[in-house]
Amino acid sequence: METEKALLIVDDEKNVLNSMKRLLRGAPYRVYTATSAAEGLDLLKRRPVCVAISDHLMPEMDGITFLEAVKQREPDVVRILMTAYGSLENAMAAIKRCRIFEYVTKPWNDAVLKACIDRAFEHHALLAENRRLQQLTREQNEELKTINDDLESLVRTRTSQLEEAVREGILMLAMASEARDDMTGDHIRRIQRITARLCRQLGLDDDTTEEISFASILHDVGKIHIPDHILKKPGPLTDSEFALMQTHTVVGERILGHKPFYRTARQIARHHHERWDGKGYPDGLAGEAIPLPARIVTVADVYDALTHERPYKPAWTTEKALSAMEVFSGKIFDPDIFRAFLALQKPNTDIRPLQFEEEVMHLQHSLR
Ligand SMILES: [Fe+2]
Repeated sequence: METEKALLIVDDEKNVLNSMKRLLRGAPYRVYTATSAAEGLDLLKRRPVCVAISDHLMPEMDGITFLEAVKQREPDVVRILMTAYGSLENAMAAIKRCRIFEYVTKPWNDAVLKACIDRAFEHHALLAENRRLQQLTREQNEELKTINDDLESLVRTRTSQLEEAVREGILMLAMASEARDDMTGDHIRRIQRITARLCRQLGLDDDTTEEISFASILHDVGKIHIPDHILKKPGPLTDSEFALMQTHTVVGERILGHKPFYRTARQIARHHHERWDGKGYPDGLAGEAIPLPARIVTVADVYDALTHERPYKPAWTTEKALSAMEVFSGKIFDPDIFRAFLALQKPNTDIRPLQFEEEVMHLQHSLR
């Protein structure tokens, strides 16, 4: 709603006020008058005013002091000083100090005074418009910020939904590859859990731990390609069967495509049967040439295979599995990783040297 336009005139001489009121009769604004600065300030409290004109020399409070008080209380009121020509010079400094919009000399010229008042109202309208635009800009900025916040939150929600869907898809793929051995998906979840604990024990950061442990569930994805009679064979594999079994590593890597997102999963799928001594497959890599994620998953995978039932063996106790694995630390397993793995076990785990031929054979089965 537009505020009513109003002018306040302050002069201690009533005849001045009357002649100005006559002059401004019919003007498109309301005219208030006051015969003292105190009365003017009081009126300012009660009425909205756009422009204030004050006589300079008045008893009690002079015009400059009055206009300074107006500026303090209502900075947007445009201020005009009327001063006799003779006292103009000593009023100039004060006029500048209290940022008076204009001064008019007494006796005034009617046209000059009216034009001066009109300019003052225009100036006031510009100030009001400027203030309105600033307020509008503030409100629009607030609105934009709210929209941005909402968008960011929406993007976060959608991203997390997408990530969840991708993870769900990966889990389904991993479970499909294990389905002939384990319909429950327990094996891959255990591998993921063991791998995560081992990563943390090795001092890897949270993101790397998450990446490697999640990728670990795809280590045997290539087994989807191995026929049942080989996959579930209880006895030792023939050379040709073993050769076919070995292909699950490279097939797994191929299934996982070329996207950077699956890089760690590809490393694990291809290299989790490499051995520290270089006698593993498919590439015969040795030592640290084997990607770290694959070396970690090798330990987790063998441990889980040994401690759970397989077509060719019953489940072993933790102690027996660790005894068997310790023989191969530095041969199959990265010794540092195996040491970290041992440190994760209960302090009283009884690690004894491997004693039986049969156990070696079972371990080798577990490594296929
Ligand atoms: Fe494997």
